[in-house]
Amino acid sequence: MAEEVRHPFLHGLSKHRGAPPTVVVIFGASGDLTARKLIPAIYNLAHDGLLPADFHLIGFGRKAIPDAEFQQIAAAAIKEFSRREPSPEVWARLAERTLYVSGGYDEKAAFDRLGARIAGLEKDSGQPLQSLFYVSTPPSVFAPILQNLGASGLAARYAGQLNQSKVIIEKPFGKDLASAQALNRELTKVFAEAQVYRIDHYLGKETVQDLLVQRFANSIFEPLWNRNFIDHVQITVAEQVGVEARAGYYEQSGCLRDMIQNHTMQLLALTAMEPPVSMDAESVRDEKVKVLKAIQPLRLDGADCDVARAQYAEGVIGGKPVKGYLQELDVSPTSATETFAALRLSINNWRWQGVPFYLRSGKHLARRVSEIAVRFKRAPGSLFADSDRSILAANTLAFQIQPDEGLSLVLNAKIPGLETRTQPVKMNFKYATTFGSNTPEAYERLVLDAMIGDGTLFIRGDETERSWQLCSPVLAHWAAQGRTGLDSYASGAWGPKSAEALLAANGHSWREP
Ligand SMILES: NC(=O)c1ccc[n+]([C@@H]2O[C@H](COP(=O)([O-])OP(=O)(O)OC[C@H]3O[C@@H](n4cnc5c(N)ncnc54)[C@H](OP(=O)(O)O)[C@@H]3O)[C@@H](O)[C@H]2O)c1
Repeated sequence: MAEEVRHPFLHGLSKHRGAPPTVVVIFGASGDLTARKLIPAIYNLAHDGLLPADFHLIGFGRKAIPDAEFQQIAAAAIKEFSRREPSPEVWARLAERTLYVSGGYDEKAAFDRLGARIAGLEKDSGQPLQSLFYVSTPPSVFAPILQNLGASGLAARYAGQLNQSKVIIEKPFGKDLASAQALNRELTKVFAEAQVYRIDHYLGKETVQDLLVQRFANSIFEPLWNRNFIDHVQITVAEQVGVEARAGYYEQSGCLRDMIQNHTMQLLALTAMEPPVSMDAESVRDEKVKVLKAIQPLRLDGADCDVARAQYAEGVIGGKPVKGYLQELDVSPTSATETFAALRLSINNWRWQGVPFYLRSGKHLARRVSEIAVRFKRAPGSLFADSDRSILAANTLAFQIQPDEGLSLVLNAKIPGLETRTQPVKMNFKYATTFGSNTPEAYERLVLDAMIGDGTLFIRGDETERSWQLCSPVLAHWAAQGRTGLDSYASGAWGPKSAEALLAANGHSWREP
């Protein structure tokens, strides 16, 4: 007779031994991120038996709603956004552990009520619960939430123990160096650094984690991973969408803050860092900070300027004509907000001296794609016919982060036939083909890691400050310049001419991902 399969979460078990009994509290419970990512992530962790057996979820928001209504909202979010069809049994067990507390983010009494609710859960379950606070509100309320977590004593629960309180804080982490430092000060007034999990969801993506495996688990790459063999690196985070309904946020942010300072800088740090002594959080983050520190200050104007910025103009996307940025709803007709930014970075250390790292990101680009492309130096072509020398491709190793996560390597191959003629060919590995397409979402991995106390895929305070140290002068310069020097590009193109010029100065050109 077939053995009965006991679902871990349904039977009060956990496949994951590391996560202590936990209550996750989401601030901003009625928000877009909560519905699209956080609740579905928690559901899928339950489905996979990865939550601790004694797990509770509390939504916190300003509107007064009963537990039952929040459970219905959560069920609807799971139905709409979960990567898999929800199982009624798993949801029923999670639903009975899903509660709601209402109150203002600046209202200490509301945090006391939250504390009382957590204490009640603890009493019922007869054991201590770790609290994981997920701050998923706009940044304007980050500080009052942190202050009230301190004032109510919630931040200090089980301090110094494995089940001490933890806080996940959403992006944007500051809008420049000074505000990031101020936010770090707010955090460290109430939490020790080991309790803080600054999220960049890019770090939860499979291919980003695979980058470390490719680099450090394969002996063929690491010996080549330096200035002797690598010509340059291109990091692209391209969006096809425009500003859509988010002009209110985007007008204040722009591309450098929204994408470059966080996502592309993180991708650069993982690509360029030295091998850590181990894969624990501090060792990995020490190496990331070291390489960020080796990046040279950017030259902001003149002939050897290292930065480019632009706004999208009208154009065609997916065969349809689209508006330019200045014509978008709620965008000022004189806006100087950049929808595209590109940087040319020099890393002044032993491994990378002389190897440019090019970063670009933008909206209304030709297609949605994020990738890291490592371009190796060309082989001498002298063995082959004159006509072939010019077309011998440089070997390129590209990590495609989204969509169609995978890895490709461009090699030169002989075209079959009696003549020796070459052609670049691509070796492709696709996650979906090899492992199936139902891989966990970034937020599943990150929420689980925070629950078990693993900060490897989160950003440390000094890391975010170092990244702002590089980007803040650029932002200040652009703010002073206004629209002077702001380039434009047709929607549906790969960016402006000024971004091409950054590479052309070194004889390089952007690849089409
Ligand atoms: N949405 C995404 O895809 C995404 C992606 C990456 C990062 N993030 C970051 O995640 C956080 C949440 O994003 P979101 O899109 O969910 O934001 P949101 O929908 O604008 O806001 C989340 C919740 O915060 C509360 N809130 C909103 N404005 C407030 C205000 N002025 N004062 C006090 N409370 C306010 C509301 O909750 P209550 O009414 O229930 O109190 C709201 O539902 C943000 O920091 C965002 O930058 C979002």
